[in-house]
Amino acid sequence: MHLFTYHNPTTIFFGKGQIIAVRRAIPENHKVLVLYGGGSVKKNSVLDQVRAALNKHTFTEFGGIEPNPSYENLMSAVELARREGIDYLLAVGGGSVIDGAKFIAAAVPFDGKDPWEIVEKHAPFSKALPLSCVLTLPATGSESNNGAVISHIGKGIKRPFFHPLLHPAFAILDPTTTYTLPLKQIGNGVVDAFVHVTEQYLTTPAQGYVQDYYAEGLLKTLIEVGPQTLQHPLDYEARANFMWAANQALNGLIGVGVPHDWSTHGIGHELTAMYGLDHAQTLAAILPFNLRVRRKAKRAKLLQYAHRVWQIPAGTDEEKAIDMAIDKTAAFFETMGLKSSLAKLGIEREVIEKLPARLQESGLTALGEHGEVTPVVVTQILKASIGV
Ligand code: NZQ
Ligand code: ZN
Repeated sequence: MHLFTYHNPTTIFFGKGQIIAVRRAIPENHKVLVLYGGGSVKKNSVLDQVRAALNKHTFTEFGGIEPNPSYENLMSAVELARREGIDYLLAVGGGSVIDGAKFIAAAVPFDGKDPWEIVEKHAPFSKALPLSCVLTLPATGSESNNGAVISHIGKGIKRPFFHPLLHPAFAILDPTTTYTLPLKQIGNGVVDAFVHVTEQYLTTPAQGYVQDYYAEGLLKTLIEVGPQTLQHPLDYEARANFMWAANQALNGLIGVGVPHDWSTHGIGHELTAMYGLDHAQTLAAILPFNLRVRRKAKRAKLLQYAHRVWQIPAGTDEEKAIDMAIDKTAAFFETMGLKSSLAKLGIEREVIEKLPARLQESGLTALGEHGEVTPVVVTQILKASIGV
């Protein structure tokens, strides 16, 4: 196991009726900006609950943060926050709203030329507004990690950035807020969380027994509750386990002291920027082929995954066990309503010509746990996924 420092300062308020905790958790002397997306929180009364909880605070609202939040739109919120002297952000929504809040938190006090530098150039900063969130879509883990992914429409790119000051102070996880999620978003959430685990687990062995068993527990939980959440939209326990698993998948815990891959995400962000595909859909179309192409390097962990997660019996021919585990992964993504290849999404050869070149231009030429995912390997993965 490698050296690590683990610190996750986000307080979690978990369970039905917890939105009221906002009242005490945000000191009353703050001027709050409540951020939300395209309106789902208005329809399902989550925003009303937040407004009621904030009735002793001074607050303003900014709605319209879109899926894959854009720098251009977020800059309107930055201007509003600066104009109104906002000093606390409360994100109410899914990963896009929370990520948007993280960008705004860093951008408002930023004294450089253009806050986009924070994202693309990782410009250093030492101040950020405090932020918290009410999560309505379990998927990204953004509610208690310090990362965000922002798109720049003008440049046609989507990029992640991280900063210790961007950990939310608290996150409210009330599973009943997810009852109104469209089936597609449930599928997206389960698959995104699943792939967050595989990015930190399906690498090379590092004797991280705790991390491995915990990762396997999260994968098995998602495999069990994913279909239940689709079939029984009001099953509280299924929603609660889905919400907690998605949180734990990317709150930093399972990733300490072990290698990380993240190449499926790296390729996925390019696919979203090029084709507007949902984040999780890009992952479902790439992961099975990423695993096939790199099966030699990942062999030991793939076998462990096959036996422990998919219960493929010991004694099964090793190559067959790996094939079966990858096939079961792809089938699980399909069960959750996502397409498990680019071919099924109708994406053709053009992607091979353009995507590796885009990565090259951005200097993203050594992805993966050992930097072995070069543009050549990306091309192999894309070819396999489009079926040529
Ligand atoms: O905008 P509204 O009207 O709220 O509708 C949203 C949106 O259309 C809807 N929704 C959310 N909660 C709902 C609901 N509809 C009904 N009932 C509810 N309770 O769902 C749609 C998608 O929302 P979005 O926030 O975009 O989804 P998600 O949480 O999957 O976030 C995706 C974004 O997060 C980034 C992705 O790249 C993508 O931009 N990620 C962030 C990460 C992080 N910060 O750590 C890691 C991830 O790997 C990921 O990259
Ligand atoms: Zn993700």
